[in-house]
Amino acid sequence: MTAPVSDAQRHDFEGLTIRYDDRVLAPRDWTAAQSRWAAELIRGAPPGPVLELCAGAGQIGLLAVRLAPRSLVCVEADHAACDFLRANALAAGLRVDVREGPMDRVLDPTERFAVIIADPPWVPRREVGRFPDDPVTAIDGGPDGLDLVRGCLSVVERHLVRAGSAVLQIGPGQGAAVAGLVPTYRGLRVVELRELERGGLVRVDRATA
Ligand SMILES: C[S@@+](CC[C@H](N)C(=O)[O-])C[C@H]1O[C@@H](n2cnc3c(N)ncnc32)[C@H](O)[C@@H]1O
Repeated sequence: MTAPVSDAQRHDFEGLTIRYDDRVLAPRDWTAAQSRWAAELIRGAPPGPVLELCAGAGQIGLLAVRLAPRSLVCVEADHAACDFLRANALAAGLRVDVREGPMDRVLDPTERFAVIIADPPWVPRREVGRFPDDPVTAIDGGPDGLDLVRGCLSVVERHLVRAGSAVLQIGPGQGAAVAGLVPTYRGLRVVELRELERGGLVRVDRATA
């Protein structure tokens, strides 16, 4: 069934009109920093499409490819979010291949991406009650907050091209734990961590050889 996007709220995300409702995480302006960093990486990346994991209503990936045009594949498990994503892409005049479902099920094993953007739920389960306005499935990162971060790193390990880059959003104070996790995935290394207003970003690259 199609979500009633006409009843949705609207948010201006750095010039993109993003529609969403209370079934979906509301756009957070500070996350445009992830789009801008991804756009920088896209400009210097090897050939290939961009993948966005945990895309929600799509604003982070859409802004990235508006700033640095490339083909975009978006993965999102929630049906309502996928409907908004398709509508938001259409309104922005951007073509997006939307894959609805869990990230470990909707990509073909042969697919490869030059840049991967990931915004997994990262709130530790015991703390989700602190965010009553947010859908639990959009923020619940499991017991240590890192279940979906691990899921994203598994996808990055399998689908990022050589010399490609990923930029993952993480929670406040999770940088050291994530920096410890990344080398356990074959060929991946942390290049840089950045602190943002309410979270962090980590750039992960795949070695060239
Ligand atoms: C933190 S929200 C981010 C949404 C969007 N990027 C934003 O900034 O508003 C995480 C998103 O991941 C989705 N998600 C949760 N588990 C997933 C999975 N296994 N595969 C794909 N998407 C998933 C949720 O439905 C939610 O939309």
